[in-house]
Parts: sequence; C-alpha cells; structure tokens
Amino acid sequence: MGAYAAAYERSIADPTRFWGLAARDIRWLVPPDRVLDDGAPPFYRWFTGGELNTCDNALDRHVEDGRGDQAALIYDSPVTGTVATYTFRQLTDLVARFAGALRELGVDRGDRVVIYLPMIPEAVIAMLACARLGAVHSVVFGGFAAKELAVRIDHARPKVVVSASCGIEGGRIVAYKPLLDKALELATHKVDRCVVRQRPQLHADLVRPRDIDWDEAVAQAVPADCVPVAATDPLYILYTSGTTGRPKGVVRDNGGHAVALRWSMENIYGVGPGDVFWAASDVGWVVGHSYIVYAPLLTGCATVLYEGKPVGTPDAGAFWRVASQHRVKALFTAPTAIRAVKKEDPDGALLAGYDLSAMDTLFLAGERLDPDTYHWAARVLDKPVIDHWWQTETGWPIVANLRGLEPMPVKPGSPTVAVPGYDVRVLAPDGTGAAPGTDGDIVVRLPLPPGTLSTLWQDDERFVESYLTRYPGHYLTGDGGRVDEDGYVWVMGRTDDVINVAGHRLSTGTMEEVIAAHPAVAECAVIGVHDELKGQVPRGLVVLKSGAEVDGETLRGELVAMVREQVGPVAALKEISVVPALPKTRSGKILRGAMRGIADGQDVTAPSTIEDPAVLDELRPVLRPPGR
Ligand code: COA
Ligand code: AMP
Repeated sequence: MGAYAAAYERSIADPTRFWGLAARDIRWLVPPDRVLDDGAPPFYRWFTGGELNTCDNALDRHVEDGRGDQAALIYDSPVTGTVATYTFRQLTDLVARFAGALRELGVDRGDRVVIYLPMIPEAVIAMLACARLGAVHSVVFGGFAAKELAVRIDHARPKVVVSASCGIEGGRIVAYKPLLDKALELATHKVDRCVVRQRPQLHADLVRPRDIDWDEAVAQAVPADCVPVAATDPLYILYTSGTTGRPKGVVRDNGGHAVALRWSMENIYGVGPGDVFWAASDVGWVVGHSYIVYAPLLTGCATVLYEGKPVGTPDAGAFWRVASQHRVKALFTAPTAIRAVKKEDPDGALLAGYDLSAMDTLFLAGERLDPDTYHWAARVLDKPVIDHWWQTETGWPIVANLRGLEPMPVKPGSPTVAVPGYDVRVLAPDGTGAAPGTDGDIVVRLPLPPGTLSTLWQDDERFVESYLTRYPGHYLTGDGGRVDEDGYVWVMGRTDDVINVAGHRLSTGTMEEVIAAHPAVAECAVIGVHDELKGQVPRGLVVLKSGAEVDGETLRGELVAMVREQVGPVAALKEISVVPALPKTRSGKILRGAMRGIADGQDVTAPSTIEDPAVLDELRPVLRPPGR
C-alpha cells in the first residue's frame, strides 16, 4: 500500500490516533485529555482539555527554537514600490506590542475585533495580536462595501475595529476610512474604539476620541504575552456567502486549526520549516487566513504578503518576478489569476527573465481548474500544477494531490483524491451512495477532521440546518460532482445559489435583495454565468412593476451602481436584462438552474415542475450566449 493509501486508511479507521500523532507538532501549554470528543453528535470537538496559544505556535516558539533571525514575513508591494522582510523575532515584537495596544483599548480573551485592512503587514500583525490575547478576529475583505461591513459588525459585535486610511487596487487608491465610518453609522452595534493605520498615500480624518492612529496606539503599548486558551476556543470568525443575504460566520477553533494546518504544509504542499511559501490571495478570504498567515508561520516558513495583482502591477510577469526574487518554493493562487496572466502573455514570454529554480509546485484552488488553464500553466512553467478543492468552512483542503505525502498522477479537471481525515462520499438525492462515475451531492461523513468549522457564530441551529440536516451524519459541501473508479474526485460546481467570481465566493441572494429594493422592480433573479476570465460573473434578470415607467438603460445603470454601493465592487455585476416574467415551479420557486444552463449554452429542457414553459422559452434568446 502506498503512503497515501496507508495514511488515508489510518485517518478514517482511527482518527484519534492519527490526529493525536499530528498534534505532537504543536506546542501545548496543557496537553489535551481527548483527541476527539464525540459525545454530542452532530457536534464534534477536537483536543478537548488542551490549552495552547496559536500566536505562540506561529511566532514565539520559533524564536525560542533558533529561528529568530529567519524571515517570517516578506511584504512585497509593487503598488507602493516596497519590499520589506520581517524576521520571526521582529514580527513577534511587533505583534506583542500591538496586542498590548489592543489590551489597552479594552480587548480581552474572547472579545471580538473586526479587521478591515488591505494587504499590508498590519493585517497579519493585527490577526496574530488577537490570537495572542485569545481575542477572536473577524477579517472583512476590502472589496466589500460599507453595508456588508456593517452587517458583519452587527453580527460579531466587536469591541475594536482595526482599519487603514486606504488600500491600493492596481493604480487606484481606495479610501477605506469613509467606508468604515459609513459602516459604523449603519451598524446598530456600537464599537468602542477604532485603530487606523495611516498610509502615506492617503490621510484619513480621525473621529476623536473613538479613533486612534496605529502608531499612537503602539507607542503607548506594553508588549503582551501569549494568553493560554482552550483548544476549543474560537480563534476567528470568517463570514462567507450563503444562499441568503445573511452571511455565515464560520467559527474556527484554536487547537484543531493549528494541528490540521501544520500537518497540511508538509503532507499536502510539500514544504517545511525554512521554506518560502506564497499564497497570492487576500487576507480577507479563507486562503489568506490559512495559507498567507497561519499555516506557513505555524510551520516556521517565511510567508509572502503580496500587495498587487497578477497583471498590471506592472505586467503579467509579476508572479514570476515575486517567486524568483523571494525564492518561493510553493505558489498558491486561483485559476482566474492564471487566466489573467495567460490572456496578457499567451506564450509565457515574461517568464524568460526570471529564475524559478526554487519553485517546486503551483497550487490552484478557489474555483474549478479548467483543463485549458491547467495545460497552459503546466506547459509554460514546466512544473507540477496542482488543483485542490476546499471551502471557507473546511479551512484546508478536502481533496488534493498530496505532494508531500505521495504525489499522484494528475488528471486535468480533477483535484485528485480525498485528503486524510475527510471521508468523502457522493450521494444520490435519496441519500444512497452514488455509483462510481455518477454525479451527486459531495458530502463528508462526520466527524469532519480537525481545523474545519466547529459551528456558525452564535448560531448552532443554522449550522445544523445548513450543513448537517440534508443527509444526517454527513456534512453537505454544497458542491456537486462524482468519484471515478480510481478514487479521483471531480468537483463540477455548486448545487446552491452561491457563485464564484474570480475566485471570490459571492451570494446571488445578497445581490437580489439589493435589486429588489429598487422601486421599479417587481421581482428579480441573479444567476452566475460562465465567464472566460473570471470563471463566473453574476447576471441579473428583472421584472418591472406594472406601470413602472423607466428606461431600461437608466434602470440598468442604477441597479449596477446600487449593487456596487451596497455589496461592493467585488460583486462585479454588470449585466442586467429586463424580462417580462421569470420561470418558476408550480410552488413558486424561481428556476435559476435552468436559466443558468441556457446562459451557459447548454440544451435545457423545461423541468416537469415548471408552471409555464412559455416563460422559459421566451427567455432563451435573452439568456443564450452570442453565437449559440
Ligand atoms: N479593495 C477594494 N476593491 C477591491 C478589492 C479590495 N481588496 N479587491 C477587488 N476590488 C475591486 C477591484 O478594484 C475591481 O474594481 P473595478 O470594478 O472598479 O475595476 C472589482 O473589485 C472587481 O475585482 P476583481 O474581481 O479582483 O477584478 P479585477 O478586474 O480587478 O481583477 C483578476 C481580475 C483576475 C486580476 C483578479 O480578480 C485576481 O487577481 N484574482 C485572483 C483571485 C484570488 O486571489 N482569489 C482569492 C481566492 S484564492
Ligand atoms: P470559498 O469558501 O470562498 O473558498 O469557496 C469555496 C467554493 O469554491 C467551493 O465550494 C467550490 O464551489 C469552489 N472551489 C474551490 N476550490 C475548487 C476547486 N479546486 N475545484 C472546484 N471548485 C472549487
């Protein structure tokens, strides 16, 4: 039996022993009494009785182990012309000091801190400072608008918000502070204090005494030590899009998270202490949490924090420049980023100037890796290109080609095999197992491995209802697909109304809520349709109220502006059509799947549940892609 098969079998047959061994790589202040606490299904807890501090494991212990002078964080920002390296010792000092500043502002163990920051070192410092205090951070992606930030503030109820004067998006300066001020105005929860990082590109007005300048806060601070927390205590809340307008607050614990991420680095990504790891994502997404911040640092790797884009900062050779300059061993990004590079530099000519000899592997995730993009990247890089599948909820890969444990042949279009710890199954709608090669719902039999979500923030009921009710005893991933005869998993797309735009997960429900609020709109639907660059883009269909007198072009402009203003620029909703009616089932459910199929150029026949097939037929020419 190969190393993968043996590890997989052990992880499923005896998870306690498997993860108990993995837990030895973490420094525990109090060792756990139990590895897996399965006393109250469907809730499972990992490493109960154990105490640790995640920041201690990410920073202090490496300094004590002699890595103090090794690079921990490499900040590379083509948009500001900065490259700065922080050693483990320097980063520990900065984090301890900022933790002291947060404590001074009243933040204690268990308190929440919302972080709304661009890709600057302060984002990493603020996250680790919260971990150091046992406070719970909730990072909100900068591309979300004030209203989305307000919704998250109201739900997480933070004591403090940490933000900056601005972000830099390609060539554009995005003022963050006015968005924060607006969000605080919209939120009903009152935040005690805001710490604001003033960037030289834009000065923000501070509202005294609520707001404090980052430098001022730090200057007065007494460095704080690591606070021991329970393994089961929350480390962070990360909001992700569900099918409704209400985001889901995924809760990550401290103990299981540290163990799983540490294990993943060597076994999945094939990197170890001292290596340089680069996840070209954003700290606002789960990839950023797990593989920009926590996993590399828990492993004693240097991590690259890149404030730039794959193209335009300054060109499509940017990724290769960063990888060669910092001797990156593993690069992780989204297929969209590679498609953007391919579009601008189809022959990979810009690779010529860079030495990528240190780079072993390109990892891709966040959306389906289409075979064209796979073949292009594999050809121009001449290195393994590895797809892997995961979600905000799991925090680390469910299906992957485990490069450290046992590399496997690549089948383009499949992220390869179930990762140890994940009992992946494909079920038919009646809950029976689907035959090999047959499509169904991809689920994971409980218990999920350590590091995966323990619940939704203060909403156990929604956690159970969203993920654990459809197929009792299993976690519903929300993705559909199949497993083939070789055990390779094929992930074909979401089975719900979540869409994936440029590797960013978005809810069509949120956009629909915004559009429906327009006085001329009677009803609407937003669907995700195929896009060459971004994988998917949202497309809106609206039905006007009878008697509404509005010009289609004007309405379209207003709706696009409303979505940008209320959800954020990242929603990228550009195309909206006014239609006479929306196709529905006899029970009134809008047939989004059928519309999506037509828009993607498939031959869609009206489902038997449809109320009026003529409505769908009337939409075909509107939805059908040009030339089909
Ligand atoms: N703060 C403020 N605005 C932001 C933002 C942020 N952090 N991130 C994105 N935006 C804005 C962009 O400026 C853009 O605004 P515009 O409509 O005025 O141009 C809009 O949101 C859409 O952004 P994006 O989807 O990123 O499109 P883009 O055209 O700017 O760039 C790519 C396209 C492919 C280069 C880019 O999407 C990319 O790098 N994707 C990689 C995906 C990724 O890292 N995913 C994370 C999961 S691994
Ligand atoms: P997020 O929670 O933002 O990480 O988005 C998770 C969703 O992105 C998954 O449920 C999938 O729909 C999609 N996804 C992520 N990685 C892959 C992949 N490698 N292949 C197919 N879909 C993916």
